[in-house]
Amino acid sequence: MTDCQGDGQGARTPMELYERLNEQGDKVRTLKTAKAEKADIDAAVQLLLKLKTDYKQMTGQDYKAGCPPSESTVVSDNGPAADGTNEEDTVDPWNVSTTNAKGVDYDKLIVRFGSSKIEKELVDRIEKVSEQKPHRFLRRGIFFSHRDMHQVLDAYEKSKSFYLYTGRGPSSEAMHVGHLIPFIFTKWLQDVFDIPLVIQLTDDEKYLWKDLTLEECHRFAVENARDIIACGFDVNKTFIFSDLDYMGASPEFYRNVVKIQKHVTFNQVKGIFGFTDSDCIGKISFPAIQAAPSFSNSFPQIFGGRKDVQCLIPCAIDQDPYFRMTRDVAPRIGYPKPALLHSTFFPALQGAQTKMSASDVNSSIFLTDTPKQIKNKVNKHAFSGGKDTVEEHRKYGGNPDVDVAFMYLTFFLEDDEQLEKIRQDYTSGALLTGELKKILIETLQPMIAQHQERRKQVTDELVRQFMTPRPLNFNL
Ligand code: TYM
Repeated sequence: MTDCQGDGQGARTPMELYERLNEQGDKVRTLKTAKAEKADIDAAVQLLLKLKTDYKQMTGQDYKAGCPPSESTVVSDNGPAADGTNEEDTVDPWNVSTTNAKGVDYDKLIVRFGSSKIEKELVDRIEKVSEQKPHRFLRRGIFFSHRDMHQVLDAYEKSKSFYLYTGRGPSSEAMHVGHLIPFIFTKWLQDVFDIPLVIQLTDDEKYLWKDLTLEECHRFAVENARDIIACGFDVNKTFIFSDLDYMGASPEFYRNVVKIQKHVTFNQVKGIFGFTDSDCIGKISFPAIQAAPSFSNSFPQIFGGRKDVQCLIPCAIDQDPYFRMTRDVAPRIGYPKPALLHSTFFPALQGAQTKMSASDVNSSIFLTDTPKQIKNKVNKHAFSGGKDTVEEHRKYGGNPDVDVAFMYLTFFLEDDEQLEKIRQDYTSGALLTGELKKILIETLQPMIAQHQERRKQVTDELVRQFMTPRPLNFNL
């Protein structure tokens, strides 16, 4: 997979695309002067128009012969800048939806976003380098896409380490099971690579986007930190921070925010995030705040003044627009581009047409749910790929590809053989919907009860430790 634009013309920068457009313009003129076949002229004109559209998408500006792009033009690093919409799927930091019952077409998304698929070869390589069995999220393609992961491993093999960065937008007290996905995986990465981790709690983002007070957002950040800590992160290697606290406490962090702000125009963020003239200016400048932790010198207490420590960001693919922007800016302000590992979405109970979302209570299983609530939600709301009657189901079998209980098991059931047997039995009709849901309920109830138990052990003092800027314990 390459990072090339639109029609595969291979232009990676505005300047390359600008030069490609100049050539194509010359070609059209030559064909016309030579009175070439109409079909040939039409084809050349079509390509010219296509390149112009790509140029507009990449730079936010119209192509004009004789006016090369300015230095401050941001490339939408990979593929069409905008929000990742096509006729079927919408994927951006605020919306995920598709008409397909099997969920978002992730292969198409990889092409549209210009990332790379996590092929078996990469999974094998992670296994070799880490000397650990790959996490089930890797074995099952739940983390399915990446940017520059091979580069991270190349460097790691040469004893050049990296750090992890992930985050959470604290919009409410309760997180749902879907939110755990990147944190479960990040904890595994921290354990197998033995590396430092920074976790950003964007209480400022939630204040700007939601009808909440600053105090509420900050309180949610601290409450969410408890759930994150309960995932088992190592306090000696992890720094969790609220933007509202850390922005004021760290001049280095704020300096990076300002550098990023200087190198992205309003046009560019409009193109990437779909902001409109009536969005408040806080939203428009916020992406720079989510970008800043990708650069190691935003954390002098951890990395000293070093600006060259490579960052790896695990997240669901909805966050990619922020990091396309970050990767565009990085080389222009003298920093390495962050690498990424993207996950698919944990679907809503009602089906994979949307992701599990905290704003729709019935779509989600929360980390605060009781065993009874879990049972009721799964039995009542989990979309079934089974047939209407037991007789039909036994005769024709169910469809695990659209069945939410089965999808959830692919995220949480550790045993590959057991999962495969469930898939086969459900497909053949030997396993009924009620039985499948029972297996899920019995998987989720202890998992969430254990999470709640671990959360209870998280004292105020432990939260304070995690959230205090301090040196971490690691060898880079
Ligand atoms: P937020 O709070 O929306 O989501 C937190 C993390 O969970 C992922 N996520 C999901 N993953 C799987 N299935 C789902 N249904 C699902 N819903 C959410 C998100 O991709 C994210 O990784 N702006 C961010 C906070 C943030 C951040 C970051 C996230 C700041 N810096 C760096 C990732 C990496 C936000 O509001 O996330």
